[in-house]
Amino acid sequence: MPDLEIVHHAAPQALSTQLMAAPASIPPKYLYDELGSRLFEAICLLPEYYPTRTEAAIFQQHQDEIIEAVGLGRTLVDLGAGNCAKAARLIPALQTAHYVPIDISVDFLKQAILPLQQLYPHLPITPLGMDFSQGIELPKSLREERCIFFYPGSSIGNFQPDEAAQFLQRLTAASDQPSDLLIGVDLEKPAHVLEAAYNDALGVTAAFNLNVLRHVNRLLGSDFDTHDWRHIALFNQAEHRVEMHLEARRALTVHWPAHSRRFRQSERIHTESSYKYTKKSLNDLLEHARYKLCNTWTDANDWFAIVHARPAHSITR
Ligand code: AVJ
Repeated sequence: MPDLEIVHHAAPQALSTQLMAAPASIPPKYLYDELGSRLFEAICLLPEYYPTRTEAAIFQQHQDEIIEAVGLGRTLVDLGAGNCAKAARLIPALQTAHYVPIDISVDFLKQAILPLQQLYPHLPITPLGMDFSQGIELPKSLREERCIFFYPGSSIGNFQPDEAAQFLQRLTAASDQPSDLLIGVDLEKPAHVLEAAYNDALGVTAAFNLNVLRHVNRLLGSDFDTHDWRHIALFNQAEHRVEMHLEARRALTVHWPAHSRRFRQSERIHTESSYKYTKKSLNDLLEHARYKLCNTWTDANDWFAIVHARPAHSITR
């Protein structure tokens, strides 16, 4: 099995600062420790969580066109690869020359590539364990390969729109070759559908959200008690985003080295924003990031979009 090449450790200092701020927040990347990655995998199986199923159906329905559009034999850079399931379905069809799964959840990624390597013994796999939320840096040899940056599942939604544009722009700079972008983006839809997807009946999303406190306790040495917090998810229509928060069930104080933070009863910690786009705002995003939109595929309800785009200045192949 190949070794993970890079491990970027996130700076807990920033986390500490965000927890002391009013309102307090925790960056959503901390949702993904090993248990968090497994809980997210379970979320993807929930009937209420439509994005995974909808995206998979679009890929299935338009597979030939998508493959034709992005081209064969490329390096597939899988941003936030998780269990690698989405890429696994594309790899044979795309005749992927080199697979580069990247994820912050290093141990989970290590386990995910084992069956994949068994399935495709001749496929070179270069897993990278890193936090790419502030930008991406590829090893030198990779910069020369013609890549497809694969960013499925609407993870782009975790960025504020201006940060999303900046992130996409930085992808262009991460490679010396003009690289294609293949991203999955969740679209705006009625609030009740969105809110059900983030408030599932079994409480898996609540467990996923609460688990971030256990991860933070390990990172900071803090004493969050998950019993004191309640999962909240709501669609903020004005901001075009679903928000997850953790709400204090009572007034309490949380401690970690050199810090203590009081929370009032019902005070919230913002743990995730999941921006929802329209076809128009999605076009604007790509334009802002200096990409040329090549193609968009959606489902019959226009609930989800798969977008193929190229850097605007390198349209000739
Ligand atoms: C992995 C960021 C796309 O925003 O829908 C699922 C994470 N949060 N349920 C999303 C998530 C709550 C998911 N992304």
